[in-house]
Amino acid sequence: LGPEIKVGPLNGRHVIVTSGPTQEAIDPVRYISNRSSGAQGTAIAAALRDLGARVSFVTGPASVSPPDGVDVIPVETADEMRDAVEAALPADAAVMAAAVADWKIANAAGKKMKKDGSGRMPVLEFAENPDILAWVSKLRKRRPKLVVGFAAETDNVVEHATSKRQRKGCDWIVANDVSPGTGTFGGSENTVTLISADGADAWPRMGKDEVAQKLASRIAEALK
Ligand code: CTP
Ligand code: CA
Repeated sequence: LGPEIKVGPLNGRHVIVTSGPTQEAIDPVRYISNRSSGAQGTAIAAALRDLGARVSFVTGPASVSPPDGVDVIPVETADEMRDAVEAALPADAAVMAAAVADWKIANAAGKKMKKDGSGRMPVLEFAENPDILAWVSKLRKRRPKLVVGFAAETDNVVEHATSKRQRKGCDWIVANDVSPGTGTFGGSENTVTLISADGADAWPRMGKDEVAQKLASRIAEALK
């Protein structure tokens, strides 16, 4: 028996999906990260797979398991995620659902940092991480036909996401309302607005799986 062959509108298409948080080392035993569970990115990878796409799933250390039937490329840091995305090109579409840490530690220690008994605190210096979405969006020859970003916002969701779309140069932004009380982080539902050149399309609150399926069918439509 060979591998299972899916027949669907994304047959023969290759899509890169980034997902989960990244972890940026402080020393060999400590890191900074964020609360992303990877649930939405995982659901998107599964929905694209179900429509027949070959999926390269570049994932930081997420709390949910990656889906079956996709090429899983595990990474820890934003730099590793960028390199993994580059290695996975070319692709027909890229969906950047990862919660990439905006900063890494510039003065990460090679050995575990120890209290020295003086009561003085270590000083962490930060350096900006590469913006993977902006970099992919601005590629010339290797740019995927459709580049989709996410924007987690707590206020003025459409306004912030619209300017983010322009700044980054991606085709679509899936704007997430993550204000307290929505339960988006770690929850199973999401309230999103799809921002494109045509404007803002507010979707009703629905399960992350349903958001993923709806987004996957829009992607299939756009790649037709
Ligand atoms: N993103 C990325 N690489 C980064 C930061 C963000 O690829 N270093 C992507 C995310 O995967 C997401 C989109 O960019 O698809 C928006 O992320 P967000 O954190 O909302 O945007 P930022 O430009 O980092 O702005 P903010 O200051 O609001 O965090
Ligand atoms: Ca950010």
